[in-house]
Amino acid sequence: MALLDTLDGVRTIAVVCNQWGDTGKGKMVDVLAEWAEIVVRGQGGPNAGHTLVIGGHEYVLHMAPVGIIRDGDGMESIIGNGVAFDPRSLTEELAFLDKAGLSHNHLRIAYNAKLILPQHLVMDRVRESRSGREIGTTGRGIGPVYEDHVGRRGLSVNDMLNKDFFVKKLRRNLDDKVALLQHADPEVVRQVMRHPHLLEGAFYSPTTIFDVDAIVEAYTAYGRTFREMIMDTDNHLRAVVGSKRILLEGAQGLLLSINHGSYPYVTSSDCSASGLANGAGLSDGDVDRVYAIAKAFYMTRVGEGPFPTEFGGQRSAAWCKTHKRENEDAMYRYASVNDPDEFTQGVAIRRAGHEYGATTGRPRRTGWLDLPLLRYAAAINLGEGDGLVLSKVDVLDDCDTIRICEAYTYQGPDYSLGERTLHAGMRLDIAPSDSFVLSHCQPVYHDFPGWKTPIADARSYDALPAELRIMVDYVERSAGVRVAMISVGPERGQILVKDR
Ligand code: IMP
Repeated sequence: MALLDTLDGVRTIAVVCNQWGDTGKGKMVDVLAEWAEIVVRGQGGPNAGHTLVIGGHEYVLHMAPVGIIRDGDGMESIIGNGVAFDPRSLTEELAFLDKAGLSHNHLRIAYNAKLILPQHLVMDRVRESRSGREIGTTGRGIGPVYEDHVGRRGLSVNDMLNKDFFVKKLRRNLDDKVALLQHADPEVVRQVMRHPHLLEGAFYSPTTIFDVDAIVEAYTAYGRTFREMIMDTDNHLRAVVGSKRILLEGAQGLLLSINHGSYPYVTSSDCSASGLANGAGLSDGDVDRVYAIAKAFYMTRVGEGPFPTEFGGQRSAAWCKTHKRENEDAMYRYASVNDPDEFTQGVAIRRAGHEYGATTGRPRRTGWLDLPLLRYAAAINLGEGDGLVLSKVDVLDDCDTIRICEAYTYQGPDYSLGERTLHAGMRLDIAPSDSFVLSHCQPVYHDFPGWKTPIADARSYDALPAELRIMVDYVERSAGVRVAMISVGPERGQILVKDR
């Protein structure tokens, strides 16, 4: 069955991730962009990195919706109001598209998207430099820009179009930041301000920390550059929802959501399907179908925070924080995905899956598929008629045995969690969003024999090995989800429809 044949009567689709991000939303959105007339981003910002492989060429997009790749076919791409918008990042991306000969004539930016300014990057990076308090952010200013929005002192994209208003709001916003930065190590601040994303010190003032004139000049220039693209996208989308085919493109993942994720080890936007719709100016009820993606049968996480099934546990978390891809290439070139040592097995799976951050280049922490977390995410993101998409399944082609975490045993001290008190030895079938509890959960595994044959060339679900299909059935039954599709490789054609 072809994917597009399953979309009769569907007008608005949301593509989100049901894990910690990096599950291949970019590819799924790219495939569905063939169906869509408008692709919209509704949350997150340049912390996202969507990697696409088209005709052997790799494209990494951070700020523009993935649909922009189809701009030449008339596809409209929208950066919605819920997005943290970095004009520097988009400028770079558009230059990259120009170089690749790809057009971006149908790109629109919400006038009320949240504007990332130099001070947001500085605050993010200075905070992350304090040892013991890290979240492992991408350093793109995401937390501080959303904080300013909620704190009612943020600037929006529209402010770049009105210089006098911009200056006034900027000064007020900077007063707040300078007061905070006065308690930071001045050398760290100076170093951070020299980062290439801050134009190597262009916004730095040795006396006032920020050079207001330099910021005003740069951002009003961005305003001139983007003027034709800036519009009321909320109204525009509300006017066409239900008639045009709209594809909502999520960023990050449910487990990183500010509202639903493993707080505080989360990003600062709501990465659920509902948060995505809201950030596009729509409501949940406008979404006809949600596709939530989960890697299978392994998963990844970047940055700090609990990860019960992580291969090699704390050792892996610490390693990924301090090492780079090159270190792994040198030390683990011949590591096997069947290595009896879990940590080494995890490195081998990371290498097989090319699990290195698209935004930061960091090695992603790897572990087995976790059903308690999947059940939790599915309860929030998936309703009747929606579907789960299993991605990167081909990565485990060589595994002798594949483990799926079916439940946890709580191994922490007595702990009150709402109406329950947890005791050591208790079984948990659904993951709690509480990070303390999650960090004391021991996985209970169900082992499956691997399929041991390459699946990248399979062109239908039924052509997949029986061992794999048994595992898919198990996930569906055990997690109470419907698997709609399976992705067996990075190219557009490597996505197999299982069910309507
Ligand atoms: P921030 O979004 O840069 O503030 O980072 C907060 C947390 O979210 C960190 O653990 C990041 O590693 C994680 N994160 C942010 N964006 C992504 C993403 O696109 N993929 C995976 N993790 C992400």
